Amino acid sequence: MSASPRTAGIAGLGSCLGERVLTNADLERMVETSDEWIRERTGILRRHILGPGQATSDLVLGAAGQALDRAGVDPAGLDLILVATVTPDHPFPSTACLVQERLGARRAAAFDLQAACSGFIYGLVVADRFIASGAVRTALVVGAESLSRITDYQDRRTCVLFGDGAGAAVVRAAAPGYGILGSHLGSDGSGGHLLFQPAGGSRLPASAETVAQRLHYVQMNGSEVFKQAVRVMDEAAGLALKAAGLRKEDVDLMVPHQANLRIVDAVARRMGMAAERVMVNLDECGNMSSASVPVALDQAVREGRIRRGDVVLLVAFGAGLTWGSVVLRWEGAPGEGKEEESSGQGRNHS
Ligand code: UT7
Repeated sequence: MSASPRTAGIAGLGSCLGERVLTNADLERMVETSDEWIRERTGILRRHILGPGQATSDLVLGAAGQALDRAGVDPAGLDLILVATVTPDHPFPSTACLVQERLGARRAAAFDLQAACSGFIYGLVVADRFIASGAVRTALVVGAESLSRITDYQDRRTCVLFGDGAGAAVVRAAAPGYGILGSHLGSDGSGGHLLFQPAGGSRLPASAETVAQRLHYVQMNGSEVFKQAVRVMDEAAGLALKAAGLRKEDVDLMVPHQANLRIVDAVARRMGMAAERVMVNLDECGNMSSASVPVALDQAVREGRIRRGDVVLLVAFGAGLTWGSVVLRWEGAPGEGKEEESSGQGRNHS
């Protein structure tokens, strides 16, 4: 064995959606919109949102339980829990710590990470580096959001978009040739004002006035974010593929952030990828920010759209602005899919 760093891979996935279903017809009764507008401009038909009393950590628990079961990992064996979220249960303690206690993951270090819609990919790359260094053997990486709690249901420009959910991955060293082959992370704070939650932090602490002005809700310049998302996701995908030494044609399935079907289609067109090579579930889930990629990835695996040996491209873009991309050769959970020859591809990161 060489002394080269270990490459991390995903050993099990799980997902959990908010328990209430919010349809386009429901939204027609809340704001001046129509099912037709929402379908044509976004591709979304319905989204799942939290029930009363539910919170982000409840979604994380549901997703994590499935991921741990599928990976055959006991929570006590986790070394690291990383929850990517912009909607934690509380500003602090971290949602990751709440989950650590509820799972009984006694020896795990736990922290939250905030990279908005790119959060799961950021988390995956952070876990990969911990594993490569030898500091961590088994990590739980979760993207989880309760966006309905920060959505203004009087603002038709945003309220039709968002859903609540969590997607979890158990991450450990992959067999040689499998796992993360390349990745890319980036950010551009100059675009922070395009998508943000104005109040509730130290700049504009909660007050009766900020609440009256509805400043605790998401505000977005949709058309500007749209343009940047298409351009940046295409570039980020190319950089992770380059780092992996692969080409667009080598990708078996792309799992993009699920913000808007027109964004996904535009990115796929730029990459020359036909619809069957692109995972889409935003029609049923809406935009779940950091949860979108892992929930879509979990669904793709359960639907048999990803087999052992496949090259999978994850790519996301979101508030910050942030973006990230990861290329994996799929190893899968124990017993999942059929064995194929691995390429022996090494790891690299741009
Ligand atoms: O997850 C992080 C990244 N987020 C995203 O990637 C979201 C990116 N942005 C988008 O998906 C799209 O920009 C939206 C779906 C948010 C908006 O679609 P758009 O095609 O960019 O519409 P627009 O904002 O340019 O608005 C076009 C028209 C406007 O009316 P006027 O001014 O032309 O009369 C809006 O007021 O559509 C109107 N409109 C609506 N009409 C009916 C905006 N929202 C709605 C609505 N129902 N829900």
